Amino acid sequence: MIKAKQTWSPETYLRHGVFVSLLGEPVVQVLNPKEDEKILDVGCGEGILTEKIIESGAKVLGIDNSAELIAGAHERGLNVAALDALDMTFDNEFDAVFSNAALHWMSPLSKVFEKIFKALKPGGRFVAEMGGSGNIQSIRMALYNALTMRGYDPTLYDPWSYLGDSSARMMLERAGFEVRSCTLIRRPTELDGDIGPWLETFAGSFMQAIPDDQHESVIDQVRDALQPTLFDPNNKWVADYVRLRFKAVKPA
Ligand code: BEZ
Repeated sequence: MIKAKQTWSPETYLRHGVFVSLLGEPVVQVLNPKEDEKILDVGCGEGILTEKIIESGAKVLGIDNSAELIAGAHERGLNVAALDALDMTFDNEFDAVFSNAALHWMSPLSKVFEKIFKALKPGGRFVAEMGGSGNIQSIRMALYNALTMRGYDPTLYDPWSYLGDSSARMMLERAGFEVRSCTLIRRPTELDGDIGPWLETFAGSFMQAIPDDQHESVIDQVRDALQPTLFDPNNKWVADYVRLRFKAVKPA
């Protein structure tokens, strides 16, 4: 079976992906970090929100499975490690676990939730936002069509797991959590410029199916397919993001 993997470049991410972190700032408010708390940031990437959490005086460890993004975060002086969430072995160590726009890249999520449960101290909280059911559905379908037309099975190259609120709640409870809130939030998101760089930044896994010299034609095809629905009357691309935001607690 093909195991396509998204790869990240810190420069490209900072140029075209930084909005993902900036729009995650409300999740830091839900986390409400306190001075001296020990907090784990799962899928911290370049560490933009890790820095925001540190402003509270909390002691934060960021982890991410991208060595490239972790190198960028490390250069900025953050306490980070290149580690896949599935390989975590933390045990009763953190007051809180935070994650923004990262969990939908991980699979199986049930295992990740179990690892996070184990990492928390009793009474600790897990506050996260990720892509939810229906997230960037039209972009995903346009990519599926482009790959299918060329004879590839898109499901083999799709890196995203999006949960609905009921299945997320069930999965969290099965891992041992008490769920305090779990909500799907539609968040149409204006892109800064053309959809091409978004595809180049975030759809790398699909592009792995296709020879390099056809990438441009795939991007053109996806852009043309999405223009009627995602290119708004103000000449802006607006992506159909849906967030799943939750807070869950490990019983004391
Ligand atoms: C997200 O944050 O939902 C997301 C970002 C890029 C690609 C796919 C999903």
